[in-house]
Amino acid sequence: MRIKVFTLFPDMLRPMLAQSILGRAISAGLLRVELIDIRDYSKEKHRNTDDYPFGGGAGMVMAAQPIVDAFAANLPEDFHGRRIYLSPRGRTLNQRVVEELAGEAELALLCGHYEGVDQRALDAVIDEELSIGDYVLTGGELGALVVIDAVARLVHGVLGSDESSEDESFTTGLLEYPHYTRPADFRGAKAPGVLLGGNHADITAWRREQSLALTLRKRPELLETAPLDENDRALLSRLKRAGEVEALLDERGVAYERLSMQEADRWPKEWFAAFVPEAMRKAAKKQCFSGRRHRGFLWRAFSMGYIPDFVGGDAAWERWQAYGIQGGLGYVPEDAGL
Ligand SMILES: C[S@@+](CC[C@H](N)C(=O)[O-])C[C@H]1O[C@@H](n2cnc3c(N)ncnc32)[C@H](O)[C@@H]1O
Repeated sequence: MRIKVFTLFPDMLRPMLAQSILGRAISAGLLRVELIDIRDYSKEKHRNTDDYPFGGGAGMVMAAQPIVDAFAANLPEDFHGRRIYLSPRGRTLNQRVVEELAGEAELALLCGHYEGVDQRALDAVIDEELSIGDYVLTGGELGALVVIDAVARLVHGVLGSDESSEDESFTTGLLEYPHYTRPADFRGAKAPGVLLGGNHADITAWRREQSLALTLRKRPELLETAPLDENDRALLSRLKRAGEVEALLDERGVAYERLSMQEADRWPKEWFAAFVPEAMRKAAKKQCFSGRRHRGFLWRAFSMGYIPDFVGGDAAWERWQAYGIQGGLGYVPEDAGL
């Protein structure tokens, strides 16, 4: 992948391109980044590249001549890559766009400064405007670095193994699950037990659930386009339901801790016996153990939580405490209005 960056401040980019993964990719020849100083193409006496805006207004505008000449001198006639102007007006960068750009053999990135660039230069040399987010930067250099960094990760061989970029936020259409490393107990904060157990199926299931839960909480709109299977959908409806109960608990000031559905599923029999009143077990079993759709019944783990209208009330709470397990089966009656 070859990237040409047209900028007034090439020194702003150099340190980033010399370090870490980008630095190694460039040294290994997997990535070629060329910094072109637009000032070198100015025909003005003092190498000026900007001027006052026609029509008045604050700030300066980057003039067309040095930019158009810099492009002409550095891009061959048969340049087939994409010519991009970093601009807050552009299409917003996301992982899909990054994947698209990584498919190009070559990119040319124009960094604006001051108030922006004379429109005629953009009309002459730019294919597309790209924004890195809905905020305004002082210049396009940071935007260009963001594009280079995100695209470079997808270039074969840049990351240690090709798998490293497969599982990540957005690549799967979802946000990524949390990571943990040694020690297993950091000042009392424990890494999730499932990750230490070595059961790969459990670990994969736990990670998928965490991804779904995080995406549901932080970026629910991503779920509309993420590829989901039947298990994901079932899990999501449980998570949504759990979220509704948590909102109720928050409203009532009840402390609780979210356990993974996987953990919650491990103990249902014990919880069931401990907390669901005899008379309701038949119906609850149907809901919880087979269909797992929990309309009136919900299995949900609350390590320190207590739903006040928990069937069984204080007696159930005492049983729960006596049980001594870090969890419980939350039971929400059908008429709780959730
Ligand atoms: C101060 S900004 C100009 C903003 C411009 N007057 C406007 O309101 O759209 C200077 C330069 O920073 C770059 N820039 C600013 N915000 C950006 C963003 N969100 N994404 C990409 N580039 C940005 C562009 O290259 C722009 O020409």
